[in-house]
Amino acid sequence: MTVHFIGAGPGAADLITLRGRDLIAACPVCLYAGSLVPEGLLAHCPPGARIVNTAPMDLDAIIAEIRTAHAAGQDVARLHSGDLSVWSAMGEQLRRLRALSIPVSVTPGVPSFAAAAAALEAELTLPGLAQSVVLTRTPGRASAMPEGETLRNFAATGATLAIHLSIVNLDAVEADLVPAYGPECPAAVVYRASWPDQKVIRTTLAGLRAAVTEDITRTALILVGPALAGEGFDESRLYAADYDRRYRPQSAGSPWTDWSHGDD
Ligand SMILES: C[S@@+](CC[C@H](N)C(=O)[O-])C[C@H]1O[C@@H](n2cnc3c(N)ncnc32)[C@H](O)[C@@H]1O
Repeated sequence: MTVHFIGAGPGAADLITLRGRDLIAACPVCLYAGSLVPEGLLAHCPPGARIVNTAPMDLDAIIAEIRTAHAAGQDVARLHSGDLSVWSAMGEQLRRLRALSIPVSVTPGVPSFAAAAAALEAELTLPGLAQSVVLTRTPGRASAMPEGETLRNFAATGATLAIHLSIVNLDAVEADLVPAYGPECPAAVVYRASWPDQKVIRTTLAGLRAAVTEDITRTALILVGPALAGEGFDESRLYAADYDRRYRPQSAGSPWTDWSHGDD
């Protein structure tokens, strides 16, 4: 028996890996984080599967569900939105399951920052503008930020920022970022990326608060940084005619292969 943690993607039911889909289809028990996991994914559950929305449950109750499945020898598909590596609450479940010697597997999913970038048709790392993406958030009611992980500190890098869980903190976002990025720095908000009611807002840092309508209070990502302009950047060396690389060598045996700007 195994608990399969599966990244369920950002919202669209077809933005899941084939492995994730097949695991859902193979598991007689499915626990899903109902607040963000699309119900369409549940159509992959086998007939008669026990399907539980864990949104109203606490950790003890979730682990109790898994223990029941474990005792019955039934595999569990555990669905969380986006990818599991960020803000999924997988860590605390893994810790409990390891203590109980219950086997687990982890299957990645499409994270919301990638879905938001896709909605914007944007590359977040443009040569000469930004070569790093910071996935971060602002403090919430239940979650303080570790010292040092402040927006001001991240802003000092000039990287593209993908700010999660913060759409109600726009005042702080603007106040913390304007000193480093300037008020005219490109910014965007993507609400419910990849869902049918997705909204895309392109603006500037100073324009964020006016551009975000009152109905957008959750499930939105704020992206800030010069790369969002989509212009004013250098072309990557990857496709330069004189560029020497493994699959298009200019001189046999050149040591100058650089994989830094693309995936081929
Ligand atoms: C609890 S975190 C989950 C993050 C998720 N594990 C991921 O990989 O993106 C929830 C936050 O992620 C962002 N988010 C999740 N799904 C989103 C979507 N479809 N569109 C925009 N933002 C989304 C929002 O900032 C939301 O407040």
